[in-house]
Amino acid sequence: MGFFTKDIKSLNDLFMHGLQDLYYAENQIMKSLPAMIEKATNEQLRAGFEKHLAETEGQVHRLREVFELLEAEPKGDKCPAIDGILREGRDLMSEIDDEDVMNVGLVAAAQAVEHYEITRYGALIAWATELGRTDLVPMFKANLAEEKATDQKLTQLAERRVNPKAEKTDRPSKPKSTARRKTPKAAPAKAKRPTKKARRRA
Ligand SMILES: [Fe+2]
Ligand SMILES: [Fe+2]
Repeated sequence: MGFFTKDIKSLNDLFMHGLQDLYYAENQIMKSLPAMIEKATNEQLRAGFEKHLAETEGQVHRLREVFELLEAEPKGDKCPAIDGILREGRDLMSEIDDEDVMNVGLVAAAQAVEHYEITRYGALIAWATELGRTDLVPMFKANLAEEKATDQKLTQLAERRVNPKAEKTDRPSKPKSTARRKTPKAAPAKAKRPTKKARRRA
C-alpha cells in the first residue's frame, strides 16, 4: 500500500505519518511511565501516573482500531520529538535527590508529554476530518480527552499538592478554626465610585 512510502506527498501521507508517529509515541510513553510511578513519592501523583498508564494502554488499543479501519498494519514511526521529551525527563529524574523537588520535576516532565500528545491528536483530528475519515475521529477524540484531563490534573497537583511552597502535606489542610470567617459575599462595598450625577454636581 502506498500508505507506507517514506515520502510525504499528500495530506493522506501526512496523516499516516502522524498516526504512525503517535503510535510510536504512545508505546514509548507506556514504557516510560513505570519509572515515573516508581520515582513519584506524592501519593496522588503516583496514583495519577498509574491511572494514566492504564489509559495509555487503552489509547494504544484505540490507535490499533484506527489502523484496522484503515486496513493497515499497526506500525510505529520513530518520533524524535517524543524521544527527546522522554529522554529529558529521564535525565531530570537522575539529577534530583530531594523528594519534593522530584515530584515537582515529574509533574513538569509529564506535562511536556501531555502537551505534545494534545497537539498531535488535534492535528490528526483535523486531517482525518479533511480526508473524509470522520469514522476515525471518535478514537482520536477519546484519547485527546484523556490527555487533556491528565494535563489538568497535573496542573492542579502542581498548584495544590506537589509544589512544596504551595502546600507541604499530601492532604488538604483545613482551617484551624472556623471562628473567623471571611466577609460574606452579600456585603459588597457600597458606593465605590460617585455616580455620574454626583460627579456632575461636584
Ligand atoms: Fe497518550
Ligand atoms: Fe498522555
